[in-house]
Amino acid sequence: MSPKFDLVIVNGVVVTASDVSSFDIGIKNGKIHTLAPSWNGNAIRPSWNISRVFDSTTYQVMPGGIDGHVHLCQDLTTGPNPCPLGLGGQCADNFETGSRSAVCGGTTTIITFATQTRAEEDRSLLKVVEAYNGRAQATGSYIDYAFHIIIVRDDKDVLETELPVLVKKWGITSCKLFMTYETMRLQDYQLLDVMLAALKNSITTMIHAENGDMIEWLTEKLESKGMLAPHYHALSRPPSVEGEAANRAIVLAELIENPLLFVHVGSSASANVIRAAQTRGLPIFAETCPQYLNLTWEDLKRFHSPTCFENSKMICSPPPGPDSSDQDALYLGLHNGTFTIFSSDHCPYKYDDPHGKMVGSFRLIPNGIPGVETRLPLLFTRGVSTGRITPQKFVELASTNPAKLYGLYPRKGAILPGSDADIVIWHPEGSLPPFKLTNRHLHHNVDYTPYEGMEFDNWPRYTIAHGKVIWANGELLGSLRDGKYLRRGPNQLGKGVAHFKKDPRRVAAWVHG
Ligand code: URP
Ligand code: ZN
Ligand code: ZN
Ligand code: ZN
Repeated sequence: MSPKFDLVIVNGVVVTASDVSSFDIGIKNGKIHTLAPSWNGNAIRPSWNISRVFDSTTYQVMPGGIDGHVHLCQDLTTGPNPCPLGLGGQCADNFETGSRSAVCGGTTTIITFATQTRAEEDRSLLKVVEAYNGRAQATGSYIDYAFHIIIVRDDKDVLETELPVLVKKWGITSCKLFMTYETMRLQDYQLLDVMLAALKNSITTMIHAENGDMIEWLTEKLESKGMLAPHYHALSRPPSVEGEAANRAIVLAELIENPLLFVHVGSSASANVIRAAQTRGLPIFAETCPQYLNLTWEDLKRFHSPTCFENSKMICSPPPGPDSSDQDALYLGLHNGTFTIFSSDHCPYKYDDPHGKMVGSFRLIPNGIPGVETRLPLLFTRGVSTGRITPQKFVELASTNPAKLYGLYPRKGAILPGSDADIVIWHPEGSLPPFKLTNRHLHHNVDYTPYEGMEFDNWPRYTIAHGKVIWANGELLGSLRDGKYLRRGPNQLGKGVAHFKKDPRRVAAWVHG
């Protein structure tokens, strides 16, 4: 006799990072309890004791999406550096609206940023995390959430005393560092300091790799010629800006044998140096995002006239590539393993808002675009439906690898007995008439979507988290009490097999002590 299941999903086409097969899934107490091959087509196993059945014949059933790159409640409009170049806005989404938008796009876990600034009151990383967690608790969250810590200073005492606490108490096992933005960036020697401290605590370093000096120099040149319109943002950041910084970050990380994750990789210039480092056996991981697969410099001229300020809606850093050739290279990188994860970099600023996109010249416009809800449907429509990537690769990039990289596997990112019952179910192929997206379809708190008018051929039909159906046929059914804070473990994707491990002169042999 089976236990009494709370929910059973029968006859689904279960897609994991490795397999596509027909399984029935028995769910109890928010966890996947039993997996069994589908029973005679559509009949339910007589021996199963069930309170609710979901027949998903011909539906693709996948682990819920894990979005490892989401900015919520980030407000850089106050403090002693009120408007750091390009990051000084107020995020339009909090944990309520951001997690709601995620659910409606099939995502069941978000990892968001607790962002240190150079303000004196932000010296303590623990205080920064407590403040962001307070913001999460103030509204609650529809889905489970965790934090990365953004570190913008190399205070040795703080790194030494607080990083172990972040790991042990909070389960925060990833930090993000910047190589650009005047008030966020670390110099090379500071990057080494923080990377080494992170390494000692088994914290994964995420890196925003753009050459800040090149950007500043190009920005000044553009400004001196009166080229201030939003689309010049892209000219201030040609692909070599990313390529140079990626290469430098790899050299620094290799020196001390620190694993590195490149976030929001937007160009083949960067993807190529990452690929070369991976080929040398270095523990280098990479993320790309929907904007880099679906937008180009041309989209920065989309509204009215090339100089129209509304084009600020499309500004993010790095910018998307000049033309579709970078998109092709990035799809290749998804296919061939250069990219470990696919995240949204949801960084939502309203257009029509004094703390949003409506400011001065391209230098001051906050960088970042919304996308937590469109992340999975875009990759499904443009990647899976077209055959550019397999359904298994989709699951690997959007769920399983983020879970492994960020120390959540197999609780998250898997359909296995014992895993959290976090599941996304798509419409059967061809059953949802293709439709054009408009911002009214979405559930974020932003007044636009960069993907307005794009055609989609699928969308999550059901989102299930902890065994509860929280999104069904266009209706949000969850509650803000459903999401819990997640403590995470270390990176589970390995430390590389590089040559230097056998080199007696290796720096890491003496510098780590
Ligand atoms: O333009 C971007 N990517 N904004 C978000 C902040 C960041 O650097 O991730
Ligand atoms: Zn970044
Ligand atoms: Zn206009
Ligand atoms: Zn970001």
